[in-house]
Amino acid sequence: MRKELPLNGRSKEALLDEMRAMKSGDTDWQRGRSPLFVFKATEGLYEANRAAFFEFFTENALGGRRAFPSVKRMEDEVVEMALSLFNAPADARGFMTTGGTESIVQAIQTCRDWTRKQRKEPKLRGNIVAAESVHPAFNKGAKLMDLEVRRAPVGPDFRADPAAIEALIDDETIMIVGSAPCFPYGVIDPIEALGALAERRGVWLHVDACVGGYLAPFAKMIGRDIPTFDFTVPGVSSISADLHKFGFAPKPASTVFYRTPDKAAHNDFDFSDWPNGRFLTSTIVGTRPAGGVAAAWATFEFLGVEGYKQIARDLLSFIDTYKQRIQAIDGLEIIGNPHLSIVAYGSEAFDVFRVAEIMQAKGWLPGLVQKPKGIHRMMSMVHAVSVDDYIADVQAAVKTVRAESGGNTKLKATY
Ligand SMILES: Cc1ncc(COP(=O)(O)O)c(C=O)c1O
Repeated sequence: MRKELPLNGRSKEALLDEMRAMKSGDTDWQRGRSPLFVFKATEGLYEANRAAFFEFFTENALGGRRAFPSVKRMEDEVVEMALSLFNAPADARGFMTTGGTESIVQAIQTCRDWTRKQRKEPKLRGNIVAAESVHPAFNKGAKLMDLEVRRAPVGPDFRADPAAIEALIDDETIMIVGSAPCFPYGVIDPIEALGALAERRGVWLHVDACVGGYLAPFAKMIGRDIPTFDFTVPGVSSISADLHKFGFAPKPASTVFYRTPDKAAHNDFDFSDWPNGRFLTSTIVGTRPAGGVAAAWATFEFLGVEGYKQIARDLLSFIDTYKQRIQAIDGLEIIGNPHLSIVAYGSEAFDVFRVAEIMQAKGWLPGLVQKPKGIHRMMSMVHAVSVDDYIADVQAAVKTVRAESGGNTKLKATY
């Protein structure tokens, strides 16, 4: 039966009681049971984020230009601070958006419109050539704009293969893509080689640093071996980087950057032909929570470079140990050589989806990769609290699967 709007309202307390009861059936992310969707750095940052978000709970970032200069200022400052992190030229520009998908869709639209103008082909349909490992957001953007996406196989190291990408480029190609890192394997693509390819073939290179954008620079600063992925690479035209992932700001918050003002000029939507006046936005959405902007700004100011470096140190050493403990389980192997916080592991010896199924019965929501079959986790300190339990349960599940003959899994890889 369809739920009806209640005739009379209820108290806040009653609602909170009911919501908390509903929540009790959710995946226990606070105990690290969710392989993705949530991120956490420290308790102190969490509190600062909540305070900043609720300080701007009612304001609308859509009104930043006219009504809320405080919100506009914070947005501009977030973008400026981030541009420096990505070694952007002095006249590079960027925008805050509500998420990785929106940043990517904006970049695709900007690239398409800039390319149409450059090539003097206003009707150019265009295609995007990318490694098969890029996020589905590229297909979503392409669907919205009636573009084609061509996915090229990755190399044996699970990184984008520039030769395979080049083989799919033709006259209609407007964009090639590299990830830093890609979601399925957590590896950073060879952006320098892709940049050289983009320059040689006269196409736009977008770097999808939605996952790594706000972790990789600090990982590099603490001496980790991180491939260059930012505007230091001459062929990079745009970068997407999510604040609400490893920037450790609350959702919704992401950023998109363009190397030059002439490229960035195509990002905005500027419309006046309606009964009201000029409608100018830099995002696909109109109304946006100012809380997301305020909390992102507060995150930067709360942590500073040293705070982010400390998070990188803690998180990456936690993940190093995690990888060693997984590798130590007989039959399991890490897929590829993940650079940052996404780790997937598989097995040549047995069906790793069966392991995930047994883990699921113990309350661990499975994150799965289908090619090759793997168990996948996008890890933050939220996973540290339960890592001993996790490893013990993986060990036990592997033992069970090894003892079974032909255990049949019904699991399907789902994002
Ligand atoms: C590499 C990559 N790009 C883009 C996205 C999309 O981000 P969002 O979910 O914020 O739209 C994700 C999400 O996990 C991702 O892993």
